[in-house]
Amino acid sequence: MSSGQARAEELRRLLNRAAHAYYVLDAPEMEDAVYDRLYRELLELETAQPELITSDSPTQRVGGAPADGFQSVEHRIGLLSLDNAFSLEELEAWYARLLKVLDREPGTPLAMVGELKIDGNALALSYEHGLLVRAATRGDGERGEEITANVRTIRTVPKRLLIQHPPAWVEVRGEALIPDATFAAINAEREARGEALFANPRNACAGTLRQLDPRVVAARGLDFFAYTLHLPEDWQPGPDEPPRPTTQAEALEWLQAAGFKVNPNRQLLPDLAAVEAFFSRWDTGRRQLAYATDGVVVKLNDLRLQDTAGFTQKAPRWAIALKYAAEEAPSKLLRLACQVGRTGAVTPVAEFEPVPLAGTSVSRATLHNADRLAELDLHAGDTIVVRKAGEIIPEVVRVLPDLRPAGATRLELPRVCPECGSGLVREEGEAATRCVNSSCPAILRGALRHWVSKGALDVDGLGAKLIEQLVDKRHVKSIADLYGLDAVLLASLERMGAKSAENLVTALAASKAQPWHRQLYGLGIHHVGEVNAKALAKAFASIEALESAARETPEWITGIHGIGMEIAQSLQQWFATPANQQLLEGLKKVGFSLAASPEDLAAADAAGADAAPPLAGQTFVLTGTLPNLSRSQAQALIEAAGGKVSGSVSKKTSYVVAGAEAGSKLSKAEALGVAVLDEAGLQELLEP
Ligand code: IVH
Repeated sequence: MSSGQARAEELRRLLNRAAHAYYVLDAPEMEDAVYDRLYRELLELETAQPELITSDSPTQRVGGAPADGFQSVEHRIGLLSLDNAFSLEELEAWYARLLKVLDREPGTPLAMVGELKIDGNALALSYEHGLLVRAATRGDGERGEEITANVRTIRTVPKRLLIQHPPAWVEVRGEALIPDATFAAINAEREARGEALFANPRNACAGTLRQLDPRVVAARGLDFFAYTLHLPEDWQPGPDEPPRPTTQAEALEWLQAAGFKVNPNRQLLPDLAAVEAFFSRWDTGRRQLAYATDGVVVKLNDLRLQDTAGFTQKAPRWAIALKYAAEEAPSKLLRLACQVGRTGAVTPVAEFEPVPLAGTSVSRATLHNADRLAELDLHAGDTIVVRKAGEIIPEVVRVLPDLRPAGATRLELPRVCPECGSGLVREEGEAATRCVNSSCPAILRGALRHWVSKGALDVDGLGAKLIEQLVDKRHVKSIADLYGLDAVLLASLERMGAKSAENLVTALAASKAQPWHRQLYGLGIHHVGEVNAKALAKAFASIEALESAARETPEWITGIHGIGMEIAQSLQQWFATPANQQLLEGLKKVGFSLAASPEDLAAADAAGADAAPPLAGQTFVLTGTLPNLSRSQAQALIEAAGGKVSGSVSKKTSYVVAGAEAGSKLSKAEALGVAVLDEAGLQELLEP
């Protein structure tokens, strides 16, 4: 068997099973985007090697088979599908083919109508002498299920046309749907009753339409948008009635006048550029709609030209569905990689064959952690489904076990760190598996990248590649080592010149003047992001003040707006780790203040009185025993408010805070005329 033949067989099996689950069982098991992509892969295989086509291939059939329970009826006019375009290039190719069929010069503009592609269920409605006589599902396109009683309950489907002299028959096609809010309410109710949930609104709508009891349908709040009109060829309207439509735009007007709900978000599009603009408008605009859409449909406006263009075996040549970029797609797993982050957390990462997703090519996706990996039950060589919605980081949503190669091994996180070989640890109640070797090169690289990043010390010219070299060659074993690098050594590294080496040395030196909150953020303390670092740096003017609060009075930390116990605990842990104390020492040695500078304080002042710490620029001396606060608590409070605590009284001392059994410091203060406070007086000063 050739590899193409094996793949075609695999795809047929998978697609047929998915179609059966969807149409017959009402229990979809594959996302549309995934189905589309696999379908296209099969179609491409079959186009390249037509001998691979078999009669059971899903490409040889329009839809699904009707299920038992409803009467099967033949459609008066077959319900065709639409061809899809997944990119503007494919749209242009469709248009070029259309012009060719119509015998027009390439580039000739033709008027089109843009409509939303409603993600619901197609219905065929038959009216005789103005009365709704039959409603059917699409079924396989030739035959569908007769669900008239159910459709009669949909308020937006007229049971009688608002046309005075209706033709003997009219066929109307459109899309039944369940709006998002109704869908949410239905599922909430089902959940409360312990019933299985519907996967999405379209699935809920399909399930509802095939309910045997119309009363259930009536309660489900279905809606309907009409978009296709078929009239007998010889029919002409009465004298004061809308004329017989000659364009798709007029057909939609006619449907509206006849009492149907027609989607208002339609537009006449004079050329391809207008089509592209319509598409990109709704690519974002769809998020504001109350119902799901999965693309836009572009139709040639002139109905006579539509006739000329005609149909392929399964779709009209005069229309195309321009689908929104897939947010999910299948791909083949190539490798399970592991990333060690700066906190030591090991993240499993799937590397797979590149797939286009939501506008970009994606080949790596996170698997989050060991639990998620186990839940996915990932095996070597698996076909996986990958999601990337908009800005969201790509992730693996599930695995298609049916496509798993025989005898494939199950994939797990390694037991040792892929970077340093030390054993990985997973603490009770933690999702992350970590490398706890603080000199692990991966942790150091992460810490360095974070330290020089934009929001932190913002050092230009120190990218990931250079950091890698510095760590690998052991020139840098801690953040502080960066500040001992000289230009000669830097210039000797790959892709470094003398000039860039000098610039880097200058940039590093300049980074020492970065404000305190950036230094704090740069330390990379768990949970201390940019916002929290700012809040903490504002409340605690130095690392010492922060440390003593973290160790002794965490309630002062949690008292800060937006800062909770989790952060206080994380700080406590961080300060209690010897490697971090070494880091602080090292940073101080190379000249970091790890405290608010006079400029910081002035900037805070300039930012408004309430932004400035109340004791900024003031020096305190503590003496005696205070009634409530310990010496170190008082010191931390003062420092948190921007003040300094000194051990001896001088003329520069702003206040002496005296408690019981105060000694010589009190007398010295009195001698020098320095203000003396008791604990209550200090508390008053601390009030913001
Ligand atoms: S026209 C012969 N217009 O999309 C062409 N279809 O993927 C008939 N759909 O089967 C279809 N919105 O169920 C048309 N504005 C729209 C549509 C629309 C949704 C559905 C319809 C069709 C499917 C094709």
